[in-house]
Amino acid sequence: MKKLLSLLVSSILLIGLLSACGGGEEKNESGAQKKVLKMGTSADYPPFEYIDTAKGNEIIGFDVDLAKMITKELGYEFEIVDMDFTGLIPALQSGKVDFVLAGMTPTEDRKKNVDFSDVYYVSRNMIVSKKGSGIKTVKDLKGKTVGVQTGSIQEGEAKKIAKTVDMKLESRNRIPELIQEIQSGRFDAAIIEDTVAKGYLKTSNGKLEGHTIPTNEQEAGSAIAFPKGSKLRDEFNKVLQEKMKNGEVDKLIKKWFDQ
Ligand code: ARG
Repeated sequence: MKKLLSLLVSSILLIGLLSACGGGEEKNESGAQKKVLKMGTSADYPPFEYIDTAKGNEIIGFDVDLAKMITKELGYEFEIVDMDFTGLIPALQSGKVDFVLAGMTPTEDRKKNVDFSDVYYVSRNMIVSKKGSGIKTVKDLKGKTVGVQTGSIQEGEAKKIAKTVDMKLESRNRIPELIQEIQSGRFDAAIIEDTVAKGYLKTSNGKLEGHTIPTNEQEAGSAIAFPKGSKLRDEFNKVLQEKMKNGEVDKLIKKWFDQ
């Protein structure tokens, strides 16, 4: 009897131990296992992903809603891991995160290291400067100090522009730093994705101006990134396609971009 009891106690302990170790798994209402995926992002990019400090410390935005929509459909939970934009691809490669939604453009270079979903949103690049700067086109950047986000396609574009236009290029890890440097006069301009730039133009109360760079090459599409060979890519893509067709993605675009 005693033996039986101790066996019972130790097996209860064991079960307790096992369930405590089930990191990454959580039970849903029906008691079935629900996998918690880790989403990497760089929450400096309104309206894609940002923290609205007036409302709280939660990371919100178009990408967050899109991730919610897709993971819910597939029966996953997800949690957000915030980091600098340059850290995102290494985080996918090391398995620190399962997918990345960060307004990331699927460039040929990045495709060597990670897999991408289809493009879910396309925007352009914009030159942002102080109101009245007279900077309207790429040519006007001559002799100017121009800021970009480290590791972004905008940094790549700026390097290309710098080959023909003599300007000084500066990189910063976070988008708000670019805006601050313009406001303080250290930068004359910055190259930022237009949807993101427009938000800052609005909140600057007319102190900044922006001009879209008008060529097709300057397009900045966004796609979801996965570790190379991840099965999640096809799962996510299928739902993404469905939601783009049935108008649910459009609804999110209206909610976050048409304000
Ligand atoms: N679309 C650009 C790129 O892929 C910029 C994305 C920046 N995203 C961010 N969350 N800061 O390089």
